[in-house]
Amino acid sequence: MTLPEVSGSKARGPLAGGPRDLTPREFEVFRGLVHAHSGITLGPEKRPMLYARLARRLRALGIETFTDYHRHLTERDPRGEELRRLVNAVTTNKTDFFREAHHFQYLAEQWVPALRARAARAGVRSARIWSAGCSSGEEPYTIAVTLLEALGGAAGWDVKIIATDLDTDVLAQAQAGIYQDDRVAPVPDPLLSRYFLRGRGQTAGLVKVRDEVQALIMFRRLNFMEEPWPIRGPLDVIFCRNALIYFDRPTQRRILEGFLARLAPDGVLFLGHSESIHGLVEGLTHVGNTIYRRAGAPSAAAAR
Ligand SMILES: C[S@@+](CC[C@H](N)C(=O)[O-])C[C@H]1O[C@@H](n2cnc3c(N)ncnc32)[C@H](O)[C@@H]1O
Repeated sequence: MTLPEVSGSKARGPLAGGPRDLTPREFEVFRGLVHAHSGITLGPEKRPMLYARLARRLRALGIETFTDYHRHLTERDPRGEELRRLVNAVTTNKTDFFREAHHFQYLAEQWVPALRARAARAGVRSARIWSAGCSSGEEPYTIAVTLLEALGGAAGWDVKIIATDLDTDVLAQAQAGIYQDDRVAPVPDPLLSRYFLRGRGQTAGLVKVRDEVQALIMFRRLNFMEEPWPIRGPLDVIFCRNALIYFDRPTQRRILEGFLARLAPDGVLFLGHSESIHGLVEGLTHVGNTIYRRAGAPSAAAAR
């Protein structure tokens, strides 16, 4: 196995010799930019975080002041490349394999039996799943491994997982499917040996997701703020966990409506542990801890 290096995290230590502090006015300007291009809402307590992450961009570009950096973004970035890097720099990508494990238990114990029943009844042996805000891939890979286990392999099934994120840096890591071995600590040993390869020699300390798992997943960049989304329904399952918390309520509502419009009649939505649909959308029934099922017929907006 040949493994490239795993790229570094954005959570590095404090910056030495960076630009002077971000003034409240500059903070307003940059947080407005971040909000306009990602929907992410940065409260005043995020000023030190924004300073640290932007200062790294300034240093990479050899720019000394935030005013010049803003000028660079508005006047010297016609293709939006620096804007993309800025947005990548401010996203929070925390994730884990088997994070919020009860979701995968539900998938294996409730959803797969229902899928099998549908296959027996209607002869439909396909499933479409969206991992929205997939970060560096741990979530869609956990979904894939869970399904492979519960279905006894993908043979005879047409299963596709589309995994999307706004941040192109984490998407590249996701696509590579290579992790430091401490990242796979939550993966039970039998699954680790069935679905991952361990590096040796120069790649010792790394693990790689096996091809059969990767084959189920398609990674794409998708920004919730850029509508219409290039994803059509009906989808059987949508995971959107720990992403909605970064948005204000009108944005959360718009995103949830987009999910609802794409969910199949019995489709299931998984949210993160501190997220809820309460007061935001109707038409979903609570079926478990942060698990919702679509009730009734698909909406007119659900395009095939
Ligand atoms: C905290 S991570 C959650 C990862 C995974 N779903 C989990 O729960 O472990 C949130 C992800 O949402 C993504 N995100 C933030 N704003 C987004 C947007 N406007 N469109 C799409 N993804 C976005 C971030 O890049 C980040 O990777």
